[in-house]
Amino acid sequence: MAILEVSDLKQYFYLQPTFLGKLVGGAKPRIIKAVDGVSFSMQHGEILGVAGESGCGKSTCCLAIAKLREPTDGTIRYKEQNISEMSKGEIRNYRREVQLIFQDPYESLNPRYTVFDLVAEPLRALTDKNKTEVRERAHETIAMAGLTPEEYKNRYPHQMSGGERQRVGIAQALVLEPKLVIADEPLSMLDVSIRAGILDLIRDLSERMNFSCIYVSHDLSILSNISERLMIMYLGRIMELGITKEVITEPYHPYAQALIAAVPIPDPAYKRPIPKIKGEVAQPIDPPPGCRFQTRCLQVMDICRGTEPPLKEVKPGHSVACHLY
Ligand SMILES: Nc1ncnc2c1ncn2[C@@H]1O[C@H](COP(=O)(O)OP(=O)(O)OP(=O)(O)O)[C@@H](O)[C@H]1O
Ligand SMILES: [Mg+2]
Repeated sequence: MAILEVSDLKQYFYLQPTFLGKLVGGAKPRIIKAVDGVSFSMQHGEILGVAGESGCGKSTCCLAIAKLREPTDGTIRYKEQNISEMSKGEIRNYRREVQLIFQDPYESLNPRYTVFDLVAEPLRALTDKNKTEVRERAHETIAMAGLTPEEYKNRYPHQMSGGERQRVGIAQALVLEPKLVIADEPLSMLDVSIRAGILDLIRDLSERMNFSCIYVSHDLSILSNISERLMIMYLGRIMELGITKEVITEPYHPYAQALIAAVPIPDPAYKRPIPKIKGEVAQPIDPPPGCRFQTRCLQVMDICRGTEPPLKEVKPGHSVACHLY
């Protein structure tokens, strides 16, 4: 049984025309199709990596899955239940079982709370544990995140380093023993030197606690390290989805090829290949009909300009949205 099934998820935002635009006449609201028809499923215990350039809709997907925003269209099923049709009690349970780790440990922690209160708060709000049980569980989780409870429990967020704060963010997300963790670029605000430690921690805990994880990152080397399957997005759609190793070593989609070719290789004799992409980062505002990548694709064909390519399986477990295949 899949733990999560996302079908045809769409999240649109409407940009109202400016006053001047209205005066001149003819200006209509413009649509930002931040997520436009995303479908995938996840198995229990799986880590799914999500990559794609800035603005392609990764965080928007995460927010809809975490039920922090109602999608424009499409369904999200968690353990076969549509999350839009949950009762109050089921939503409470969903809030316990599905947790987010945020990108910015400076902004996501309440500055007025001590580490202990930050980690104990979800237990107080969403469980029936008594005071002693809350204290024990909070201490245990702070220690699991790699911080000594005695030393850190009375500290405030401003009294810690970025890496320590992110460990508190992780403790906060894991204290309720979630089944699904959504980590939206949890390392990108941290120093390179402490990233490896936090990454190991997340991987180690996911194995020990056996939660499924959606791991969003710009860094393909991190994703190849942590995720079993990899999903590559471009302007609100999935371009390629498959086993991480296969996608990295043998990408099909021209966008995936360009993205992977851009990863630096530590070899002085290595000559960087000619970029497989043209133009600038596009915007998901009023996207053209057909393939979203057409304006930057070096292999664009006539069909790409009129027909949107569906995500098709090209090999067992490896799907690509491209008319070349
Ligand atoms: N509340 C909003 N109102 C209008 N547009 C929005 C809103 N939230 C996101 N967008 C737009 O939707 C698109 C997708 O944004 P999103 O934050 O999901 O991108 P992302 O893939 O997470 O990017 P990054 O890698 O920079 O975090 C962007 O073009 C963004 O400007
Ligand atoms: Mg984002």
